[in-house]
Formats: sequence, C-alpha cells, structure tokens
Amino acid sequence: MKFRSELVSSIHNFFYQNNFTQVHTPIITSNNCEGGCETFQVTLNDYDRGLEIIKKDSINQMDELNSRHFFSKPVYLTASAQLHLETMTTSLGNVYTLSPTFRAEKSMTRHHLAEFYMLEAEMIDMNSLDQILDLTENFLKQVSLKTYDVFDKNLLHLILNKNKPKTSGLEYIEKITNTFNSKKFVRITYQEALDILNKLLNTKKYSKLIKKKIEFGEDMNKEQEKLLVEYFQDTPVFVTKYPKSIKPFYMRQSEDNEKLVENFDLLAPHVGEIIGGSLREHRIDLLNDAIKNQDLEPQVFDLYLETKKFGAMRMGGWGLGLERFMQFLINIENIRDVSSFPRSLYNCKM
Ligand code: 4AD
Ligand code: MG
Repeated sequence: MKFRSELVSSIHNFFYQNNFTQVHTPIITSNNCEGGCETFQVTLNDYDRGLEIIKKDSINQMDELNSRHFFSKPVYLTASAQLHLETMTTSLGNVYTLSPTFRAEKSMTRHHLAEFYMLEAEMIDMNSLDQILDLTENFLKQVSLKTYDVFDKNLLHLILNKNKPKTSGLEYIEKITNTFNSKKFVRITYQEALDILNKLLNTKKYSKLIKKKIEFGEDMNKEQEKLLVEYFQDTPVFVTKYPKSIKPFYMRQSEDNEKLVENFDLLAPHVGEIIGGSLREHRIDLLNDAIKNQDLEPQVFDLYLETKKFGAMRMGGWGLGLERFMQFLINIENIRDVSSFPRSLYNCKM
C-alpha cells in the first residue's frame, strides 16, 4: 500500500507537470463503452418500495420498469471512463482520471479483479500511432523510475524478497531500471506478433503454450502475450493494429486497411497486457457503421456522438490497470496482493 501511494503520487505529478487536467468521471453510467465486456447493473434493491417512492414523488406515469430503474433506464457500474473523458476533452484539451472501474468477468486468474483502478488519459491532436506510443512510453518510464527512486529502499527490499527468498528482488528492479534507461520498447504489429508466435509453435519449448496456429482475427491469450515479451528479452512490447472485428467501435480505422484499427496493447513481463489504447474514430459515418455492426444501440451514445458530429477532434487515449502495473513493477504474482480489499469472483470481504 505504501508503494501504491508513492506510485499514485508520481502519476499525478507527471500529468500535472505535462499540463493535463485531472477530471472525475461518473461511476454510474448508461453506456458500456467496451461493448463486449461484462458489467454490473445498478438497480434499486427493493423494487416495490422503489415503485412506491417514485409514485409518491409524483413523477408521472412511472411504470414497473422504472420501479427497478431509478434513472428510468438500465444503468451500470462503469467499465471505463473513456467516453466521458473524450467528451470532456473537447473543451478541456488533454485530460486524465484515476477511477474505480468494474468488470463482471467470471474469471479467477492472477490478473483479474472485479473492482480495480484504471488510469485513463485522453489527448488532443493525435495524428499517428507513433505519437501516442512515444507519449505512453515516456509516461511509463518516467513514472516508474521516479517511484523507485523516491521509495524507501529498505521497504522495497522487503517487499521484493517476501515469498521469493531465492531471487534477489533488487536485481529485478535493476533489470527494469536498466531496460527503461537504455532501451526503446518494442513496437510490432498484431500480424507480426502472430508470425512470431506461429513460428514458435513448432519449437519443443513452446509447443504447449501454442497448440495450434493463431489465425488472423483471433485474440492472443495471456500466456501468448507473456511469451512475446519473453521473446524480446523482457522488454515491454507494444502490439499495434489489431483486426477491427475484435476491437471496440471507438477505435480509429486504419487509412491503408479497413480491416485494421489504429490501436495498441502494451505487454509487460510476467503480467501481459497492462495498457490498452487507440486513436479515436472521429469520422461520424464510420462510427455509426461500427456501432451498427456491433449491434449496439446508438441512442446510448447520443452525447458522445454529437461531439463527433459537430466538429470532431482527432483524439487518442489509453487505460492502464493500476494493479497490473504494480504487479509488474514490484514483481507480485497475484493481483489480489496489490489491492487492500480485493474483489473478485466469489470474493468480497467486508
Ligand atoms: O484494455 P481495456 O479494456 O481498455 C479500456 O477499457 C479502454 N476503454 C481504456 C481507454 O482507452 N481509455 O482496459 C485497460 C486496462 C487493461 O490493459 C488492464 O491493465 C486493466 O485495464 N484491466 C484490468 N485490471 C484488473 N482486472 C480486470 N478485470 C481488468 N480489466 C482490464
Ligand atoms: Mg484491453
């Protein structure tokens, strides 16, 4: 928790020094920005009483649906603040938020929580992927090095060597520090990532992890993500330009290939994906098509779509899972060990 506190302080300093505006985005939302991901719905916990209250408050013609839905429509705990951030960016320029985020994924892995903190940044004038990757890489290196630098060394030593008496924790930090000081993060496309993984398919060492050829349009799993980072000697890897078919509607379609989007995932050693981001689609026709093709209801995105319709800006942004970032920085195997009161499937104490 002490490391977490120091890390959050470095994060806020970075954005403050780079003239970002910190904003607070809603926890309750009527959109599920990621489309595919599982959300928690928010309802009144006593429907009948809800109906009574609403009737008494003399709001006209409230039906049974509204007795469940305080806001007269289904609402959810936020799975990402991105669409709110994009909307605020139109007036404020570069913005960021560090906010609780909720995902009802029914997975009990070492990398998933049902409630976690996501750091999300949204930037204006983003015209190329390299531009956003440069900024992201710079952010990650600066914030990590600063946190290591100011954090109590004895305490760091203690954290790092707990449960891992055989490896020296400080060596772990030294390795990351060296990489961050001397190397550029790897940048490869999704297609190049598949080519590398499919090549490893036939080697003895990796045949268990990659059972069959990964085809274009399939996602990589966590083990394969980690393998890619290993392949590049533990240097973090940006994987860019995924197939449009497996990514959310808001990602900007590539100019040179309509099957691809201008997005990236950042993969870190032993954790896999820690950041997901993209340039944002500003062309209203393409946005409308993507919403339709993914069977989403356009009215849910009314406000957001209006900001695109009337003078859209070229934005880009990303989201970083704070807990996964910590797992990487201080070599923690299970995500539940970097959260004070972890919430995950079947597990919500107090
Ligand atoms: O890749 P994701 O789903 O991206 C978004 O939600 C974008 N809308 C963010 C944006 O562009 N503003 O999630 C971002 C990051 C992941 O890379 C991962 O680190 C973390 O959030 N994350 C989780 N961390 C812990 N438990 C979970 N269940 C997580 N799901 C995502
Ligand atoms: Mg992602």
